[in-house]
Amino acid sequence: MNKSQVIGQVMISQEEIQQRAIEIAAEITEDYKGESVLLVGILRGAVPWMVDVMKHIDLDVEIDFMAVSSYGAATKSSGVVKINKDLDSDIEGRHVIIVEDIVDTGITLQYLTGYLENRKPKSIKICALLDKPARRRADVYGDYVGFSVEDKFIVGYGLDFNQKYRQLPYISCLAED
Ligand code: IMP
Ligand code: MG
Repeated sequence: MNKSQVIGQVMISQEEIQQRAIEIAAEITEDYKGESVLLVGILRGAVPWMVDVMKHIDLDVEIDFMAVSSYGAATKSSGVVKINKDLDSDIEGRHVIIVEDIVDTGITLQYLTGYLENRKPKSIKICALLDKPARRRADVYGDYVGFSVEDKFIVGYGLDFNQKYRQLPYISCLAED
């Protein structure tokens, strides 16, 4: 393992994240006025961000979850996506907003949007806490993005390194040793 498990500085604070969640929830409320939305949280990293955003959406909101994994190395997406838990809800004719922790290569979200499109939702959008555009390989963008980050391995606020650090109440990164 080349990365020491030392957490770097606070890159984005809890207060900044929560303020951004309020702004994005207001945009969603405006964009879907008079409609209802289904938030689909991608386990497990999206949970803290999804909780922040959903509280401030002033629409009929339902939530559901999916779990996906990409095979391969811990800090690099392999490009192969596996569905570990599918939705319980029927999404045909509904407005779906996928809530993710980070758009990195974009491969996971490209696969997921295609997978869900087959079920004929009325619309699909993406709401991601973070965007790491430097590593994009698939033509995917977030419709609602909290923050853009540089090409570092991010942890905290749901994001993990080997399942650790998800509970940190701020965004940080692994310090190289
Ligand atoms: P993708 O490369 O866009 O397909 O991202 C797949 C998944 O890799 C994301 O949903 C995250 O769970 C994880 N991931 C990507 N970049 C990071 C990171 O910097 N820290 C922690 N997890 C990451
Ligand atoms: Mg994830």
